[in-house]
Amino acid sequence: MTERQKPNHLRPTNLSRFLFGAPYYPEHWGEEEWRDDPDRMAQAHFNVVRIGEFAWDRMEPQEGQYDFSFFDEHIKRLAAAGIKTILCTPTATPPRWLTHRHPEVLRVDANGRRMEHGSRQHACHSSEVFRSYSRRITQAMAQHYQDNPNVIGWQTDNEFFCHFSECYCDSCRDAFQKWLENKYGDIAELNKCWGTAFWSLTFDSFDQVSLPYPQRPTYSNPAHLLDYHRFLSDAVIEFQKEQVELLRQANDQWFITHNGFFRNIDYRKFVQDLDFFGVDIYPMFHREQERPAATAFKLDATRSFGGNFIIPELQSGPGGQGDYLHSPPLPGQMRLFAYQAIARGCDGILHFRWRTCRFGAEEYWVGILDHDNQPRRRYREAIQEGEEFERIGSDVLGTVVRPNVGVLYDTGDPEMAHQALSHGLSSPSTNAKSIHGAWYKAGYNVGLIHPEDDISTCAIVILPSWPIVTAALAERLTSYVEQGGTLVITGRSGIKDENNNVLAVTPPGFLAELCGVKVEEGFRINEPELYPNHFTLAGEVVHQSEWLDRLEVTDATVVSVWTEGYHVGVPAVTSRQAGRGRCFYVSTFLDEAGMQALIPYLSETAGVSPLLKSLPEGVEVSVREGENYQIWFILNHRNVPAMVSDIPAGTDLLSGAEISSSVDLGGYGVAVVKVKKSQR
Ligand code: GAL
Ligand code: ZN
Repeated sequence: MTERQKPNHLRPTNLSRFLFGAPYYPEHWGEEEWRDDPDRMAQAHFNVVRIGEFAWDRMEPQEGQYDFSFFDEHIKRLAAAGIKTILCTPTATPPRWLTHRHPEVLRVDANGRRMEHGSRQHACHSSEVFRSYSRRITQAMAQHYQDNPNVIGWQTDNEFFCHFSECYCDSCRDAFQKWLENKYGDIAELNKCWGTAFWSLTFDSFDQVSLPYPQRPTYSNPAHLLDYHRFLSDAVIEFQKEQVELLRQANDQWFITHNGFFRNIDYRKFVQDLDFFGVDIYPMFHREQERPAATAFKLDATRSFGGNFIIPELQSGPGGQGDYLHSPPLPGQMRLFAYQAIARGCDGILHFRWRTCRFGAEEYWVGILDHDNQPRRRYREAIQEGEEFERIGSDVLGTVVRPNVGVLYDTGDPEMAHQALSHGLSSPSTNAKSIHGAWYKAGYNVGLIHPEDDISTCAIVILPSWPIVTAALAERLTSYVEQGGTLVITGRSGIKDENNNVLAVTPPGFLAELCGVKVEEGFRINEPELYPNHFTLAGEVVHQSEWLDRLEVTDATVVSVWTEGYHVGVPAVTSRQAGRGRCFYVSTFLDEAGMQALIPYLSETAGVSPLLKSLPEGVEVSVREGENYQIWFILNHRNVPAMVSDIPAGTDLLSGAEISSSVDLGGYGVAVVKVKKSQR
C-alpha cells in the first residue's frame, strides 16, 4: 500500500502535475461533436477530463451486462491528444432497471414521500441492496480499468448530499438502530445519554427507536437528533469507503477524490479515505459584492478538511436550472475564479462543463463551448488559462497556504449539535463565515482550521460560539495559549456535552479556567433596545449581536464594558494571560461588523499585520509557501484597474516581468509573483 499523509491543512496534494480540464459527457453527443473535442481540448492545454458520474445506464444497460467499450474508445481518443481521464463511480444516478426492480432503494423524505426515478440522488446509502449494486459497478469498473494507464484517478459518486441528506426510509431506520446499538451497547446507556426521562421517551430496546421525524407532532430530543446527523454522515462515509477499498485494491496508484461540500457530513472524517478533497465552485450563486469573500470562505473551508485540493467543477458560464439562471461571468472572470482558487490551495481545475448540453434539466448550464459547439470567448479564455497553468504549475505544486489567523471550523459535532437545536441563532459555521469575512476583507492571511489540526501555526485563533467544547479541546486550546497563542472565544461557547445536553458546569464549561470568567446569565437578544447596545474597544464600537453573556470575572482583566440599558457596566470583553499567551472572551456573537471593529486591537495584541500595508478595494492577496520561495497571488475582483503597491520584489510568473514593489492590474486582472525567501 502506498503511504499516504494524513489529512491536515498544510498537506499538499500528491499530484505530479497541475490538473487542467473539464467534466466531459461524451454520452450526450455524437460523432459530429466528438470529432474535434480532443484537439480542441489539447489546444487549450487540457491534461485531464472527468468522465462518467451520471452514466451508469451506459455502462450497465441491463443488470450484470457491463459494457465499457463506449468510454474505452473516448478515453483512448483523448489520450492520443495527451489528455488523461478521471473516472467517477456513477452511483448518483442508478439506472431505471435497478430502481424499477428495487423500489425500496429510493429515498424517503420527512413527509414519507418516496423519491422517484426522474432526476438524481434518489437512492439511499443505507440500503444494503443499493450498496451491493454500488460495490458491483465499482468493482466492474475498477477491474476493467486497473491497467489502463490513461485513467489516473477517481471521483467517488457526485456531490454526496447536494440535494438530499435526511432520509427516513426503512433501511435508514434499521441502520440507525444498529448504529445506536453499536455506539451504546446497552439501551439503558442510550436512555441515560439522551435524557429520555424527559417526556417519557424511555426505550426498552434499540428496535423501538425511530428516526427523529421533524414535527411529529412537535420538537424532537436534541440528543436523538445529533446522533441521527452523525449517523447520516457515517452512512455516507461507509458507502464511500466501500468504493474506495475496491478501487485501491485494483490499483493503488490511482488518486481518489470527491467533490463537496454539503450539509450533514463530518468532512474531516470523510476525507480520511481520500488522497485529497475536491470542491465544486460556482461563484455566480453570489452577488458581486459578496462573491470574493464567500468564495474565499468555501475554498478555505475545503482546505481545512484535508489540505490542498482540486476543483472538479469550476463555473465557466452562467448556470441555470428550474427557476433560476445566473448572469454570465464577464470576460476575464472565469480565469480570475481559477486564480482565486489556486491562491487558496487548489492544485487542479476542471471547468464545468466542456460543452453545454442541449437537453435535460441542465440544458442551460453553460459550459466552455456553447450549444452550437462553437468555441467563443470562454474557450479563448480557457486557452489562456491552460497555457498559463502549464507554465506555473510546477512552481505551484508542493506549495501550501499557511494562515496566521485561524477561525475554528468543523462540520461535525459543533455544526450538527447546533442544527439539532438552534433556537434560531446563527450556527458556528455562519459565525465563522462572518468572522473570516472580516479578516479577509481587511487583507489578513486568514484561514479556517479544524480543531484537530496543529493550531500553533496561527498567531490568533478564534472559537466562533461553539456549543460543544469537550475537555480535550479545552486542554488543546489551553496549551495553545500557554505556548504564546492569542485565543478569542465568542459568546455562548462551552455550554454542552457530547450528547448535546447542557453541562452541569457553569459556562463556558471546560473553558472557564482558561478564560477566567463565569457566565451568570446567557440569553438571546430578541428586543435589542432592552439590552446594552454596544461596547467600545480601542476607539472602535462593537454592537451586540444575537446573544449576550453576563460575565462574572473570576480571574481576568476587564478590557471593555457594555454601555446603555440593563447590564450597563458589565464586562463585555475580558482578557486573561496564561503562560506566554492570552485568551479573550467576547460576551456576544461577532458578526462581520463586530469582528471588523475588533481587528485593529486584536491584531496589535497578537502581533499580526495584513499581508500588504494597503489594499485597494476589491483586491485579494494570498500567499502560497514553498521551501525556498513564496508565491504571491494578487487578484483584482473588480472590473476596474487597480494599482497594488508594497508587494515584495519578485518575478510575475504570468507576464515574466520583474516586480520591484507594485503591480498594475486591469479589471479582473491577476499577478502571480514568485518571491525568493531570502528577499523577505
Ligand atoms: C453541481 C453538480 C453538477 C451540475 C452542476 C451545475 O452541483 O455536481 O452535476 O449539476 O452542479 O448545476
Ligand atoms: Zn434511507
